[in-house]
Amino acid sequence: MASLCVSTFPTTSLSPLSPLSSKPPPYRFKVSCNASSDDHPKTSESPNLILPMQNNNVDRRNLLLGLGGLYGTANMTNIGSAFAYPVTAPDDISDCVPATSLINNLDDVVRGVACCPPHSPAAFPKPYVLPSFRALRVRSPAHKLTPEYIEKYKAAIAAMKALPDDHPHSWKQQGKIHCAYCNGAYHQQLSENQKVEVKVHFSSIFYPFHRWYLYFYERILGKLIDDPSFALPYWNWDNPMGMMLPAMFEAPGPDNDLRTNPLFDPYRNVSHAAPAIVDLQFDDKERGHPCVDQVSINLCSLHTQMIRTKRTDDFFGCDPNPKVSECGGSIENGAHTAVHRWVGNPRMANHEDLGNFYSAGYDPVFYVHHANVDRMWHIWMGLKGNRNKGPRSTDWKNSSYVFYDENEELVRVYNRDCVDMKRMGYMYEASSIPWKESPPIPRVKASKVALKSVRSVKKAEETEFPVKLDKRVNVLVKRPATTRSEDEKEKATEMLVLNGIKFNSEKFFKFDVLVNDVDDGIQTTATSSEFVGTFAQVPHMPGHKMFITSGASYGITEVLEDLEAEEEEYVLVTLVPRAGTEDATVSEIKIELLPID
Ligand code: C2O
Repeated sequence: MASLCVSTFPTTSLSPLSPLSSKPPPYRFKVSCNASSDDHPKTSESPNLILPMQNNNVDRRNLLLGLGGLYGTANMTNIGSAFAYPVTAPDDISDCVPATSLINNLDDVVRGVACCPPHSPAAFPKPYVLPSFRALRVRSPAHKLTPEYIEKYKAAIAAMKALPDDHPHSWKQQGKIHCAYCNGAYHQQLSENQKVEVKVHFSSIFYPFHRWYLYFYERILGKLIDDPSFALPYWNWDNPMGMMLPAMFEAPGPDNDLRTNPLFDPYRNVSHAAPAIVDLQFDDKERGHPCVDQVSINLCSLHTQMIRTKRTDDFFGCDPNPKVSECGGSIENGAHTAVHRWVGNPRMANHEDLGNFYSAGYDPVFYVHHANVDRMWHIWMGLKGNRNKGPRSTDWKNSSYVFYDENEELVRVYNRDCVDMKRMGYMYEASSIPWKESPPIPRVKASKVALKSVRSVKKAEETEFPVKLDKRVNVLVKRPATTRSEDEKEKATEMLVLNGIKFNSEKFFKFDVLVNDVDDGIQTTATSSEFVGTFAQVPHMPGHKMFITSGASYGITEVLEDLEAEEEEYVLVTLVPRAGTEDATVSEIKIELLPID
């Protein structure tokens, strides 16, 4: 299935920073954490707000910089990181502060950033014990739901929306959970006089946090309709049959009125309702090849993010780590974020709802999208060779969050208890997985491109770095080893590493990374083997020229196999400027072998 056109296919080999190598991830297009204004007294919240802590000498702005969070995205290599690990949400939820992290414009927030949960009668959260159950809840693909199931799902959401706003199960409170954990409502003690924000994105904390979040959301919905078998649908965006926004979200309710459909959300990109196909590759509007279609691009991107991403750190993101401020995994930085951006309304100042963390939880699509993200975790673990992988540090296992369960009980949950979803009482109905068989395909067969360009292109060791990205950059990069055995390939993956990517954060920034590409005037897209990834970033602070330094790395083992270039000593690396690159530079381009765990 997959590609309609043989000569195409995808994409981005991502690989996030690993603590080992402090290498940043390739896919840098992220959902901005930038919430603008607030439903709080505006005068008291500013980016320079002092944190409520014993010692008030710490400027919040510095803390945010330390977390790499001020601009929400890049790996800010020059700034000391502040983090605390295991990630631990506070025992006393009344320590929660307005989620004012990263405010651009106080006037443009439509959802508010007063994201603290309602007061609990219990002083402290109880440790959560997974309850026993009679049958697994089965999460089904949204596009295959029966009309009866859709009605049941709508009834559950309607019941949630009917609760008073201050009820811990209300639609609003459930939406606030995401805002609180992303936009800085919770802090934990880093040292005696320093608190840092609890963060659940851009690291290995991403999957477990969202698994727990959906777990309680699903149980609450089940309880509201008195159906313990109720399971969330999943948006099957990885299958061509599921690549449109499921129709139920945009269908009119009673009286033919959109607004009476409880699944409708006014803050979405209206031009992305069905039959538009989701774009998992961000913005590849200009297709170089006439037969590159969106479905192929999506499948190829997923192949790279799932199949060609073999290291635990590259798939999950690295553990929160003092050396790097952000290092999300392949799916988090790739398809996951692309879907957020695609659904959110670009006409809203903050791309509400899905296009911004502070507002994402207010759209029912969020939970159905994240069910599929959660399913990607499950599928990846089942792929050949991955069974014993996954984050294993004690700090990862002991990271914990606080939720209200379906009985309004405040509970603390740990990563270690969410590794096995069957123990949690749910599973995914199978859906075919065409991206497994959708690898990118070489655009030009066995081109020996690098060999041919030896006389015309400079080698990295002769190139003067930093190189400017104002035009197409070509560099020959030496490989640490040629012709590796299958055994060696199973132990280590060959990574193309870009360090010191410096760019102006005021503008949308994007460049493509190609290897052994023939520059024949045709644009190489994500469906070709030569295309190893995109580095893209949304503008952070429009109107504030500010340079960010980041990095990226891309797995190229299979790419070089595809291109029959395994015997070559050099790889021709090409960086193709796509947007906002006029004043950008890259300070190092190299190839390394990194161990697969
Ligand atoms: Cu917490 Cu899709 O993000």
